[in-house]
Amino acid sequence: MMIEVSHISKSFVSPKKYPGLKGAIKGLFSTEKIEKKAVDDISFSIKEGEIVGYIGSNGAGKSTTIKMMTGILSPTEGNCLVNGVDPNKKRKENAKNIGVVFGQRTQLWWDLPLSESFTILKEIYDVCDEDYAERMEFLNRVLELQEFFDRPVRTLSLGQRMRADLGAALLHNPRVLYLDEPTIGLDLVVKENIREAIKEINAKYKTTVILTTHDIGDIEELCSRIIIIDQGKKIYDGSLQKLKDLYGAKRTVSMEVRNYNQKKLANLWETLGVKEEDYETEYDKEQRILSVAFDKNKIHVPEILTAVMSQMEVKDVQIEETQLEDIVKQIYHSGVK
Ligand SMILES: Nc1ncnc2c1ncn2[C@@H]1O[C@H](COP(=O)(O)OP(=O)(O)OP(=O)(O)O)[C@@H](O)[C@H]1O
Ligand SMILES: [Mg+2]
Repeated sequence: MMIEVSHISKSFVSPKKYPGLKGAIKGLFSTEKIEKKAVDDISFSIKEGEIVGYIGSNGAGKSTTIKMMTGILSPTEGNCLVNGVDPNKKRKENAKNIGVVFGQRTQLWWDLPLSESFTILKEIYDVCDEDYAERMEFLNRVLELQEFFDRPVRTLSLGQRMRADLGAALLHNPRVLYLDEPTIGLDLVVKENIREAIKEINAKYKTTVILTTHDIGDIEELCSRIIIIDQGKKIYDGSLQKLKDLYGAKRTVSMEVRNYNQKKLANLWETLGVKEEDYETEYDKEQRILSVAFDKNKIHVPEILTAVMSQMEVKDVQIEETQLEDIVKQIYHSGVK
């Protein structure tokens, strides 16, 4: 296993807050503290070369987990091993094995030309000239850094900066790459470039990638496995496909109809032997749209169309699959079934 996380937890202690202005003043003198478990007993393991999406709503504990895996934060309980090294005990040794990109802020030196940041990183990570040349050739090809290599980092656009950060994280050819929202705020074209670069790096060097994102597109394109966390707890760990099978069986057919008749339709379902729990209908009076949501493993679209068309005039039909985005929303909202 490249990464073994076992029963890791992280609590933050912060001063208790009181509401209102009076409360703010009271808070100044109070010594009351509250403890919050940002990460609560999480375990998982990741094989070499896997790309795993680590997802969850805001404040779920994603960044905190990543910080513990990189050695930036020490766990309150539990531990992890990355390439056989405990990042918390051997920070330096661990640093050689990992690359990190935090999309929200750069790891580069703001006022220095990008080229100098790379020279410094070459020294820090002790990359020999030969490896450096090979690496730069690859990074220039996939990330096109040469366009702005001599400019100070502060003058780079967000998309350029993200490419620069990704390049910098990969200079020493790490075994594990942590990406915390690497596509945040990027336009579609740059997003696509970043995704392609990640794919290529993973394929060429078998780099293990842990990716945190709110962008479902990132997940669909890059990850075959996802881990979902909610309020510090792991609530799903498995394939993207399984999640889709589990939740994505729902389909909706929307039909624009004339002379809608609820009673006749209900009778018809009964004659057809369609069970009530397997479908849900909704009629929008103004738009005259009848929607039937159903489990595609139990009812088929032609059955629905035939039934409806035998009772009323159908002007237009639309069929929708449940999107991954809806599935994830549903899980954040009500947990895994
Ligand atoms: N240094 C800290 N001190 C106190 N509380 C913290 C600290 N860092 C994080 N937290 C709290 O821990 C919880 C988890 O935060 P974390 O940053 O891991 O969430 P996240 O899943 O990365 O969210 P987002 O999607 O918004 O980035 C939040 O409630 C956050 O306020
Ligand atoms: Mg975060």
